[in-house]
Amino acid sequence: MRIILLGPPGAGKGTQAETLVKKLSIPHISTGDMFRKAIKEETTLGTKAKEYMNQGKLVPDEVTIGIVKERIAQEDCNPGFLLDGFPRTVFQAEALDVILKEMKIALDAVINIEVPKEKLIDRLTGRRVCKGCGATFHLIFNPPAEEGKCDKCGEKLFQRADDSEETVINRLNVYEKQTAPLIEYYSRQGIIKNIDGDQPIEQVLVQIGRSLGRNWS
Ligand code: AP5
Ligand code: MG
Ligand code: ZN
Repeated sequence: MRIILLGPPGAGKGTQAETLVKKLSIPHISTGDMFRKAIKEETTLGTKAKEYMNQGKLVPDEVTIGIVKERIAQEDCNPGFLLDGFPRTVFQAEALDVILKEMKIALDAVINIEVPKEKLIDRLTGRRVCKGCGATFHLIFNPPAEEGKCDKCGEKLFQRADDSEETVINRLNVYEKQTAPLIEYYSRQGIIKNIDGDQPIEQVLVQIGRSLGRNWS
């Protein structure tokens, strides 16, 4: 299956992706995670991405499209893939359509996770991420069993550099302006599945499964 996870920052794309890729046996491709890895490793890509990410702005399209094109051409993507956080502009979506056409493959679904804007700030400022395995937690909505420690691998949890309130507000504005138009773009292609993301994490997963014709309840 070839799937896109769409939704504003904090909608729960990464949280759902963790389980979805296991259930569907496909790789999780998060452009945000790829950029964060590059920043950590201090590569040229990382240096370029950092200045945009820390301000809550989008990394330029030509950089982002290039890394995705390369990634989905890899062999582990033959059975399909889950794109999380890409595309994020109409330009990226059009470029992806061209790439897929060249590869003679097509998208199966675009899952659009909807959450009221006023809830997103709390979700993002309270988020904590594992240093080791990348698992996502929330101080209130999804706390780890032991404070500051990952349930899955035991490593320390940290707060993302772009999860300060000021940057979160910028990211939400960027989403409204540059990414929300993709809902219309994929609606026109007839492959969008709107999911109510304002319910418990497990319920959101069940709904996503249902939209893909699977029964995970
Ligand atoms: P990226 O890493 O993609 O961040 P984002 O889109 O802003 O999305 P988030 O990861 O913040 O949210 P999420 O939907 O994954 O939510 P999560 O599951 O963690 O991008 C970061 C930056 O990289 C961008 O700003 C940009 O600079 C750059 N970038 C990336 N891709 C790009 C592209 N294509 N083009 C250009 N630039 C790009 O959940 C959030 C919190 O809520 C967690 O604490 C979680 O525990 C909690 N939560 C989740 N589900 C629920 C629920 N159902 N109920 C209650 N709490 C919940
Ligand atoms: Mg994410
Ligand atoms: Zn971990």
